[in-house]
Amino acid sequence: MDKDKTFYITTPIYYVNDVPHIGHAYTTIAADVLDRWYTSGGYDSYFLTGTDEHGQKIEQSAQKRGMTPKELCDEVVQNFKRLWETLNIQNNDFIRTTDKRHEEVVQEVFRHLLAQGDVYKGEYEGWYCVPCETYVPEAQMAEENTCPDCHRPLTKMTEETYFFRLSKYQDALLDYYEKNKDAILPHERYNEVVSFIKSGLKDQSISRTTLKWGIPLPGDDRHVIYVWFDALINYLSAMDFPKEDGKWKKYWPSVRHLVGKDIIRFHCVIWPAMLLALGVNPPVRVFAHGWWTVDGEKMSKSIGNVVDPFEMTELFSRDSFRYFLLREVPFGQDGNFSEMAMASRINSDLANDLGNLLSRSLQMIQKYRNGVLPDFAEVTELDTEIKNLAQATVGEMEEELDRFAFDEALKTLWKLISRANKYIDETEPWKLGKENNAARLDTVLRTLWEVLREVSILLAPFMPDTATNMTVQLGIEPMKRIDWVWGKINCPVSIARGENLFPRLDLVQWEKEKAERDAKKRAKAAGISNSNFEFEPLAEEISIDDFKKVDLRVALIESVTPVPKADKLYKLELNLGFEKRFVVSGIRQYYAPEDLVGKKAIIVANLRPARIRGVDSKGMLLAAENPEKGKEGISIVTILDTTMPQGARVC
Ligand code: MSP
Repeated sequence: MDKDKTFYITTPIYYVNDVPHIGHAYTTIAADVLDRWYTSGGYDSYFLTGTDEHGQKIEQSAQKRGMTPKELCDEVVQNFKRLWETLNIQNNDFIRTTDKRHEEVVQEVFRHLLAQGDVYKGEYEGWYCVPCETYVPEAQMAEENTCPDCHRPLTKMTEETYFFRLSKYQDALLDYYEKNKDAILPHERYNEVVSFIKSGLKDQSISRTTLKWGIPLPGDDRHVIYVWFDALINYLSAMDFPKEDGKWKKYWPSVRHLVGKDIIRFHCVIWPAMLLALGVNPPVRVFAHGWWTVDGEKMSKSIGNVVDPFEMTELFSRDSFRYFLLREVPFGQDGNFSEMAMASRINSDLANDLGNLLSRSLQMIQKYRNGVLPDFAEVTELDTEIKNLAQATVGEMEEELDRFAFDEALKTLWKLISRANKYIDETEPWKLGKENNAARLDTVLRTLWEVLREVSILLAPFMPDTATNMTVQLGIEPMKRIDWVWGKINCPVSIARGENLFPRLDLVQWEKEKAERDAKKRAKAAGISNSNFEFEPLAEEISIDDFKKVDLRVALIESVTPVPKADKLYKLELNLGFEKRFVVSGIRQYYAPEDLVGKKAIIVANLRPARIRGVDSKGMLLAAENPEKGKEGISIVTILDTTMPQGARVC
C-alpha cells in the first residue's frame, strides 16, 4: 500500500434514469467498506460517488414527463442520496455531472487536448445503440444490426464529430499494463483488456450533434461532449483538477476505481489514455466486479425481479445486507442473489457464530465477574494459540483487502470467531466457575473479551451498526485498527450486555412470505395488477375431493327483510328449486332489498345451519370483498345466465 498513506476510492457515477438497485448498492457498499477499512488502518482515505446525468435517455425521459432534463435529474438524484444514507454509506463527496464545477473541468480538459493536438475534428459513420449511448463496431454486433449488450436494434448514423486520438496511446497503455500487472483485477480482466489493446485501438469519437442535453463543446456549440468522455472526468473534477492546490494532488496518485465488468473498457482503455494525454498517472487499480442475477434469473424490470435495496434493508437490516453481498460471492465473479440464501447466512454466520459468541461470553462475564472485565491470570498454551490467531487475523485480512477480496477477509474473520466458540467448549468456563478456579476463569473470560473487541474493530467497516452495538456491550469506545493492541485497555471496563445481535429467522415462514411478495411484484410488472393494496395470501392448497365437499347452488332470492335490532343483517328467503330456506347475511349496508329480490345468487348449501339473532340460517351467500376498502366494499356473487334453474349445482 502507498507509503504516504492516502487512499482514493471511487464508484461509477450512476445513471439517474434507473431506480437504484442491488448492482448500484453492491459497488457503493464495497467502496464504503474499503474507505472505512483504510481509515481504520490510519490512512487518509477519500471516497467519491455520484451520478451521471447527461445523455439521450435522460433527454427523452424528461420530454415524456414534460420537464426539463435538469428538473428530472434534480428529482431522481434524491433516490440515490437517500439510498446511501439508508445503507450507511459515508462518501466524502457526491459529484453530479451537471455540477458547474464538473462542467468547467470537462471543458477545460477538452480545450487542453484540442490545443495539444490529441483532439481533432472529423466525420464518423457507424452503428449507434441509443439505449447504451455507444457506437458498436461491426465486428462486435450481435445478430443482424443489434447491440451486443442490450440486443436492441442499432441505428446507422453519420455525424461530424471530434475525435480523441486514442490510437496514439496504444503503446503507452501496453507499457503501463506491462509494468503494473495488478492495475486491473481480477487478472482475467487484465488479460482481456491487454489483448483488446493489442488488437489495435481506433480514435474515439467524443462529441455529438444529435442531442442537446450534454456539456456544450467549447468553441463549437453545435456539439455536446459525449457522455462517457464527460462522465469519466468526474473522478478528477471532484478533486479540483487541475488546480495546483486541488485535492487531486494529494489523492490522485492512489486512486482505485470500482466498476462493474460491463464498463471495464471505458475505465481501462479510454480513461487511462485520456489521463496519459493529460500527463496524469493512470489509475493505480481498476477492479471489475461481477453481476448479480436474482434467484437464478437475469434481473429485469419487465420480469419484476429487480432487487430493491430499500426493501432488503427493511426486511433484514442494512448490516445483514452489506455482509451478505460481500460474503456470498468473490468480488470479481458473478453471483446469485436470493433472499433465502441471505436468511440462512444470517442464521448461521450472524446469529449462530457471531451472536452466540458475544452473548455466551458476556453472559459469563456477567455471571462470574459481576460484569467487570477481569485481567489475564494463568495463561496456558491454548490461550496463547487464540491470541496468536487473533493477531494473525489482522495481517491476513489486510492482505486480502489489499486485493479487494472481501469474501476471503470475512472468512478469515469467521475462522477466528469459530475458533473462539470452540475455545469456550474446550475450556468449559462453567466448570472453572464451579471449581472456583479463578485464575483460569479470569484468563478465559479476558481472552474471549479480547477476541470480541478485535472482531468489533475488524468487522466495523463491513457492519458498522453491529460493531457499534458490540462495543457498547463490551463496555468500550470504538477504536481504529491501528490503535488496537491485544490485552491493552486504558481503564477498568464494565460490560453492558444487551439484546442478541441477530435473532434467528424462521426460514419456513420466510419462504412463504417471500412467495407472496414475489407474486405481487410479478403481477405488478406484468400489468396484471396496478394496485398497491395487500392481497390476502392464498389459503392452503386443497384437492378436488376437498372442493367437492362444498356444495354450491344457485338460489333465487325471493324476499329480503331486515333482522330486527341488527343493523347489518338481512334475512333472505331463498328458493333452491327443491326446497325453500332462510339465510342470514351481513349485506344490509350495501344493498336495498329491491336490489336483491329476483337475483339468482350462489350459496354454500351444505353449511351446517346456525341460529343467528333468532333466525335459523341455513347456508351462506357468496360475496367478494374489496381488499382496497376492506369490508367497505362487498359484491354478492350472482349467476350471469338468469335462465339457469335454481338449485343447479355450481362446480
Ligand atoms: N454511468 C455509467 C458509469 C459511468 S462511470 C464514469 C454507468 N452507470 S449505470 O448506472 O448503468 O451502472 C453502474 C454500475 O452498476 C455499473 O458498474 C454496472 O456494472 C453495475 N450494475 C448494473 N447492474 C448490475 C447487476 N445486476 N449486478 C452488479 N452490478 C451491476 O454504467
